[in-house]
Amino acid sequence: MKKNFYVTTPIYYPSGNLHIGHAYTTTLADVICRYKKEDGYNTFFLTGSDEHGQKIELKAKENNLEPIEYVNEIVLNFKNLWKKLNINYNKFIRTTDQYHIDSVQKIFSFLLEKKLIYLSKYKGEYCISCEEFLTKEQIVDNKFHVVCKKEFIIFEEDSYILKITEFKTYLQEIFKTDFLEPENRKKEMLNNFINNDLEDLSVTRINFKWGIPVIEDPKHVIYVWIDALSNYITALGYKNNEKNLMDTFWSKDTEILQIIGKEITRFHSIYWPVLLKALDLRLPSKILSHGWILSKNDKMSKSLNNVIDPLKIIDDFSSDALRFYISYNLPTYKDGNFTEELFIESFNTNLANNVGNLISRTSNMIIKYFDGQTPEANIESDSLYKKGIETITNYKKFMNEYKVTEAIEEVLKLGQSCNKYIEDIKPWDLEKNDKIDELKKVIKILHNNIVIIIYLLKPILVENTEKMFKQIGVKIDDVNFDSINNKKYSIDKISSREIIFKRI
Ligand code: MSP
Repeated sequence: MKKNFYVTTPIYYPSGNLHIGHAYTTTLADVICRYKKEDGYNTFFLTGSDEHGQKIELKAKENNLEPIEYVNEIVLNFKNLWKKLNINYNKFIRTTDQYHIDSVQKIFSFLLEKKLIYLSKYKGEYCISCEEFLTKEQIVDNKFHVVCKKEFIIFEEDSYILKITEFKTYLQEIFKTDFLEPENRKKEMLNNFINNDLEDLSVTRINFKWGIPVIEDPKHVIYVWIDALSNYITALGYKNNEKNLMDTFWSKDTEILQIIGKEITRFHSIYWPVLLKALDLRLPSKILSHGWILSKNDKMSKSLNNVIDPLKIIDDFSSDALRFYISYNLPTYKDGNFTEELFIESFNTNLANNVGNLISRTSNMIIKYFDGQTPEANIESDSLYKKGIETITNYKKFMNEYKVTEAIEEVLKLGQSCNKYIEDIKPWDLEKNDKIDELKKVIKILHNNIVIIIYLLKPILVENTEKMFKQIGVKIDDVNFDSINNKKYSIDKISSREIIFKRI
């Protein structure tokens, strides 16, 4: 039976258009999901938009629109970006979808009934821009939010409160497992919150209207996190009449990966597990909390006005080029940089000079020396052949750990070895000296490794995969993990001399 894999991104705020930072998370999810599919999993990929809250209400007013009119327009831009970036999600959830609203109200009622939610007062330092009450660590100069650098406000009002503190022991238990990655964020959560400053969480507001009303007390709207976090299960049909996918994708054997940016780690590793526990549902297998894309040492973000538009990068270069930079050059465990210079340098070094060059010189040799017909030869005992097979194993090991950068690094290393092999062995001399058997072997080894390289990059370079395979006479549908391990694909005559990944 096929194993199941469920991957989610955060649902993004439609308070403006998306930037490279959002494209980062979503591309990672897409790449990992495409890999899992190749590896035989039954997959489901969820993304969406988080549409309620005061900030959206204010933005809509500024634009003289009703909130729903305002978000409708921006959500179209989200979907357009994902299309251009070849993001192959299964479902796009909007928190304004009626099925989601129904489920969230039922979840709230359930928690109220279980007395895990109670009515009280909430007072705190609140950042309007980030829709977040701030902790001591998040405040600078007694006045500003450390992330967006905006001034916070203080307020106190009636609010329903979720009993987080009741789950302290449970949280301590799950933090002994590796459900949250990387390790240093686990320590941060334990030290700053769970072991020290764990507080109950305010989950409703009365000072704005744009949210899901509490059925039992409609002057309250359900405030951001119960609404937002629940999307990961309401999208699967939890407590609603949508097709129920919970049994498949939230069952105990499913591999569930939730990718987030580090600033929402607390919500996903503390409040989300509490909510799941309260609903008697399992934890995700992994919360992968990645670093930020910085722009001159600050987080790239709408509120700091320092963002790069992914649509411009796609138009200027290509979707595959952006997918590659994100997947390879921005490892998840640290903050990374995105500048046009770094982007171009990576493209030229890795895609033009390494992969593209290898494909074009090898296909040229096949055309020139063998009239386009890839020769057969016994290559199993050759060390570069063996390196190709090892690359598949190493790549899978890293991908299974969601280490996309490291997985790609293995593929690029194989490309470098093949290019060096050509330079060292000089196939043109073999031809000149009539060493045809040796030449056949060299070409077959290169061809074999190129099939491996193209296939392993397939989850990333989705627009170019078929073209690259064609360049070496292989049909995309013939290639899978089994066939690359055993050379079980047919090879057609090669004639095309197209250059793939021209230097920028
Ligand atoms: N709506 C909430 C999430 C609710 S999830 C139940 C939210 N939305 S957001 O629009 O602000 O998106 C935040 C997410 O976008 C981050 O967690 C991360 O995935 C991505 N990023 C936004 N800026 C980023 C960077 N500069 N760098 C890396 N990722 C970034 O928070």
